[in-house]
Amino acid sequence: MPIKDIRLFGDPVLRTPADEVTVFDKELRQLVTDLQETMLEAPGAGLAAPQIGVGLRVFTYWVDDVLGHLVNPRLDLSDEVQDGEEGCLSFPGVYYDTPRALRVVAKGQDQYGGPLTLEGSDLLARCIQHETDHLDGILFIDRMDRDQRKLAMKAIREADWTGAVPQVKVSPHATFGKAL
Ligand code: NI
Repeated sequence: MPIKDIRLFGDPVLRTPADEVTVFDKELRQLVTDLQETMLEAPGAGLAAPQIGVGLRVFTYWVDDVLGHLVNPRLDLSDEVQDGEEGCLSFPGVYYDTPRALRVVAKGQDQYGGPLTLEGSDLLARCIQHETDHLDGILFIDRMDRDQRKLAMKAIREADWTGAVPQVKVSPHATFGKAL
């Protein structure tokens, strides 16, 4: 079974920017399959390659009954924002309000290297932003406002999956995603 272990917060791979995909071969298609199957099994609405320990710019999503993937995403975000609860498979059980752009246009490639554009609003837009952040080593706690982040960090420290959580350094580049 190609179901992979999902890396949890504290694993350095989640803070490591992923590399652009340049080779669209069988291995890449296997990675997309592994991501999809691992995401559906979890179950989750999105999964990025670093979350299964692979440093490549690929993510999958499962939103509104649509299963898809995107390679090398570049995002164009709306000025209009949304707020709402967000979670992450690398932070089991942790859900807090996280502001995001309301709409996004994401351009990249499919698993065969062909051009692919995704347009989404609401949950799909949130998912695309969250997963693309993963490819830059940015986590949803970095996107929360101060109060929500404080609550989230407390929940993370108290979570049963954390064990010994290393000192958390919150990413300083809070708006980095907008430059993608
Ligand atoms: Ni996540």
